[in-house]
Amino acid sequence: MDNITFKTLAPETQIPKTIPYPLNIAVAGTGYVGLVSGVCLAHRGHHVTCVDINVKKITMMQQGISPIYEQDLEELMFLNNDRLTYTTDYKLAYKNADVIFIGVGTPEQPDGSANLSYIATVARQIAETVEKNCLVVVKSTVPVGTNDKVEQFIKDFLPRNGEKNNIADQNNIEVEVASNPEFLAQGTAVRDTLEAARIIIGTESKTAEETLINVYKPFSLPIVSVSRRSAEMIKYASNDFLALKISYINDIANLCELVGADIQDVAKGMGYDTRIGNKFLNAGIGYGGSCFPKDTKALDYLAKQNGYELRTVKAAIEVNIDQKILLYKKACQRLITFSGLKVAVLGLTFKPGTDDLREAPSLENVPLLLGQGADIYAYDPVGIENFQRRFPETSKECDSSNSKGSIKYVKTVEEALLDANVCFIFTEWEEIKTIQPADYKKLMHTALVYDGRNIYSVENMKESSVEYYSIGRK
Ligand code: UGA
Repeated sequence: MDNITFKTLAPETQIPKTIPYPLNIAVAGTGYVGLVSGVCLAHRGHHVTCVDINVKKITMMQQGISPIYEQDLEELMFLNNDRLTYTTDYKLAYKNADVIFIGVGTPEQPDGSANLSYIATVARQIAETVEKNCLVVVKSTVPVGTNDKVEQFIKDFLPRNGEKNNIADQNNIEVEVASNPEFLAQGTAVRDTLEAARIIIGTESKTAEETLINVYKPFSLPIVSVSRRSAEMIKYASNDFLALKISYINDIANLCELVGADIQDVAKGMGYDTRIGNKFLNAGIGYGGSCFPKDTKALDYLAKQNGYELRTVKAAIEVNIDQKILLYKKACQRLITFSGLKVAVLGLTFKPGTDDLREAPSLENVPLLLGQGADIYAYDPVGIENFQRRFPETSKECDSSNSKGSIKYVKTVEEALLDANVCFIFTEWEEIKTIQPADYKKLMHTALVYDGRNIYSVENMKESSVEYYSIGRK
């Protein structure tokens, strides 16, 4: 263990006395990362200004409404209202901030690399605005080396001698950059932040390290302090490891089906080994969301850029692509056509507890089903509004050619199932899990169910005379 380069700090014992508390913190970006971080930092006593360019979002937050669906978030916004400000005026937010968190998006580009233009915009705004020394903290997931570039970029854009409003130069302002990746999962983001397993801080100076330790002092959580590049890599390596774990269990599940083993029993047996652990071993129709698909591709891209082939991560990506349409393919083997069939689609979001659709299996399967002429009745407790924007409600009557399917959104699982010929389960929402095997038999025209989340016991479905297909089980 001697040559391990990180150190774990016990925050209570090593808090520098020199840095004030609470701090004035600005957070750029009010998505899942930015808003949740900002609200949790305020909950732990700091004064936080959340900045976003979206006027509509800012107006909502000023009225106490969270623009994203996230458990406990609105309650915490209300509780900490005195310490929270929401604004589109970045100058107001940055000029006197002690610490500026960057939590804007780094979306995937067509080649798999991360788009850093939003980060660059914020970095430039910071450079042009700050009026005192501050620490810029990159929370967004960024390729290794980005923090170095952000620091240089800010330095490049700090006002020079003789320039108008040359406040930065007059005061000899120092802006340092630190990496502080986040590990929150959507749906449990508030809890994941307040009760994080660890806080990773990546810094290149004692001052930056001490400032970040001070920010997190009131959280009383283990802090792992490393270099900036290691911190950036910890984030990718962690997410990609979890994606790999899911693709691995899905791969094994597919083999289980072929050899007559049961993936849930297999995963249970594996999980007792503490070296493996029992989390993230749920086989299903693949991982989605805004993180795993993007971060696996980004690391694969980074490796390629450096002349290395990251074969394990590549395999995880490939397995996941096939896994998402596995059930559709199975159904195609069972049915002559989807045309004229009522297809119940239960669950649209990439996982329960969120209205996020990014990379959700539903997005792959619904167009395939529509293309085959299916009449879809889709149910999701929170995802319909977002899904409808991509797939507006249609009906057969509107489409005289009758060659394409239709999609209708319903408010209950029962409505979706009533007289359906086939049912697909894409998300394991509680509202769906409470539907009993006998209900499928009772409600559907043909009790034919393809379950992408292994919600039901195979035996119970059999007892209720439901023709049931799931992942990795006979
Ligand atoms: C993920 C990580 O879990 C967070 O630690 C990380 O901070 C976050 O990405 C991020 O980088 O921002 P998230 O994408 O919100 O969080 O969702 P997860 O709960 O990790 O689920 C991701 C996908 O994996 C979902 O589609 C889920 O259905 C799937 N999954 C998860 C499985 O198929 N099987 C499992 O056993 C677990």
